[in-house]
Amino acid sequence: MLIVILEVAMREIVRFSASVEKELLRQFDTFIKEANLANRSQGFRMLIRENLVKQEWLKGKEVAGAITLVYDHTGRELSKKLTSIQHNFHGIIISTQHIHLDHDNCFEIVAVKGKPKEVQKLFLRLKFTRGVKHSGITMATTGNEIP
Ligand code: NI
Repeated sequence: MLIVILEVAMREIVRFSASVEKELLRQFDTFIKEANLANRSQGFRMLIRENLVKQEWLKGKEVAGAITLVYDHTGRELSKKLTSIQHNFHGIIISTQHIHLDHDNCFEIVAVKGKPKEVQKLFLRLKFTRGVKHSGITMATTGNEIP
């Protein structure tokens, strides 16, 4: 038996119980311990919120995110190409941070807010631009619909 406290809108707390397989609960407890969470309730809230954010991406809601890129700016026309792609997506890019890692390598963080399809399209365009050494995406949320 798993007893959890669930925070809902207006910070009203409700208590409910749930039944789960013993082994599943054992692994959940291991996760809570390893993640250094206070208790099952905190772990459960975290999982619910993670799932809600995933659903926002799957259902095409407005989302937020961060795309990261590592590339060698001395590569022919690469900086220009990446900038040009970003200008084509100016509607969803809210900020770009450029960090000079060393003499040749650049690290760029592109913060986005918009529809998941557009964000994915931008990510793939940047990712598959020749010369990009690494790219990543963090699928986050605007937070508007996450209690
Ligand atoms: Ni640079």
